[in-house]
Amino acid sequence: MRRKIVVANWKMHGCLAGNQRLLDGYKQKLAALSHTDFVVCVPYPYLAQAQQLLQSSNIAWGAQNLAKFPEGAYTGEVSAAMLRDFACQYVILGHSERSTAYCESGENIADKFMMAKSVGLTPILCIGETLQERESGVEERVIAEQLDYLLQTRGAEVFFDSIISYEPIWAIGTGLSATPDQAQSMHEFIRERIAKLHSSAAQTLRIIYGGSVNPSNASKLLAMPDVDGALVGRCSLSAEEFTAICQAADQTQ
Ligand code: PGA
Repeated sequence: MRRKIVVANWKMHGCLAGNQRLLDGYKQKLAALSHTDFVVCVPYPYLAQAQQLLQSSNIAWGAQNLAKFPEGAYTGEVSAAMLRDFACQYVILGHSERSTAYCESGENIADKFMMAKSVGLTPILCIGETLQERESGVEERVIAEQLDYLLQTRGAEVFFDSIISYEPIWAIGTGLSATPDQAQSMHEFIRERIAKLHSSAAQTLRIIYGGSVNPSNASKLLAMPDVDGALVGRCSLSAEEFTAICQAADQTQ
C-alpha cells in the first residue's frame, strides 16, 4: 500500500509575512491528519523560514530545482548539499515551466535527478505532454520518451523512493484538469513501463498528478488506484484550498 503524498508548489510566489500566514494555516488544518505525507516546495530564499516554521510539524519542505553540479563557479545556482543544509527532503525536477523557459534538456534533468538522490533528497520528477500531443494521440509515446531517458541511462532502480508527477502541460494553471480516467490511464501506463524493468521499484514508486487540482476535483482524482497524490500549484497559495485537497487525500487512505 503506497502512502499518499500532497505537494504544494508555490512557484515564484510568496513574501515573509504572507508565507507565515499560509504555513500557519497549513499547520493548523493538517496537524490532525496522519495517513498522508505533506510537502511544501518554496522558493529558495524562504527555505530557512520553512525550516523554522515547519520543523516540529507533519509537513516537510523542499525546493523547486537544484544544480546538477556539486559545487563550483556556477553563478546563480543552488546545490543539492545546500538544500540539505536547510533540511529539505524533496525537490521538484523537470517542471514544464522550467523546461520551456530555461531549456532544460532530458540529460540535465537526469543529472539533477541523480544529484538529488546522491544527497538523500527525494526527487519529484515532472513529466507531461502538450495539448497538441494529446490531440494527436501521441501522449503515451511522449511520456514513454521522457521516462525512457532515465530508465535507459540510469536504470529502473533509480525509481525506488522517488516520485513521478504526471503533469499534462495543458492542465497546468489552466483550470482544466485531466479527468480521473485520463490520469489513471497514464499513471498505469507509467507504472507498467517501469514494472517491465523492475517490478518492485514500480510498485513502491509514488506517481502523483499535477495540473489544476482543486478542492472539487481532488477526491475523484485521488480515489484512482494509481494516483498516489497531487502536486498543487495555484490552490497551494490558499491555506483553505490546499488543506481541503490534503483532507481529500487523507480520506482516501
Ligand atoms: P496548478 O499547477 O495546480 O496551478 O495547475 C500545478 C503545477 O504546476 O505543478
